[in-house]
Amino acid sequence: MNIITFGTFDMFHIGHLNILERAKELGGTLTVGVSSDALNFSKKQRNPICDEIDRMRIVAALACVDHVFLEESLELKAEYIQKYKADYLVMGDDWQGRFDHLSHLCKVVYLPRTPAISTTMLIEIVKEIR
Ligand code: CTP
Repeated sequence: MNIITFGTFDMFHIGHLNILERAKELGGTLTVGVSSDALNFSKKQRNPICDEIDRMRIVAALACVDHVFLEESLELKAEYIQKYKADYLVMGDDWQGRFDHLSHLCKVVYLPRTPAISTTMLIEIVKEIR
């Protein structure tokens, strides 16, 4: 079985590890689309702290991850699902319902986010420490 998920995974934190491990626990091969720097800028109006090469290397080094690729556009999810023959699309529940239109291609599963941590929050905390 093939599982696919997507994200920026900037300043890699425990919420990222939890969702990737839980995705892998569905059973099978886990492929992760890591958002490109350009895509991240268009989504969040800021450049990631860690660039796309480093973010891909960190995610690829995890025991629960089998394969990593660069996600270049939010509009290409259907193509990526087909290319990687995904049986499951896993997203955090901050995206609840937003990918239901892909459920004719694979099962769409939303997993609960880990509470009280995000890259944005880490950046704000570090800014306050200065
Ligand atoms: N995620 C999660 N729990 C968190 C933070 C992220 O489960 N506390 C999940 C997201 O739902 C997504 C994946 O991790 O499926 C990658 O999320 P990403 O947007 O890269 O991380 P965030 O920390 O949410 O980043 P930001 O604050 O910049 O939005």
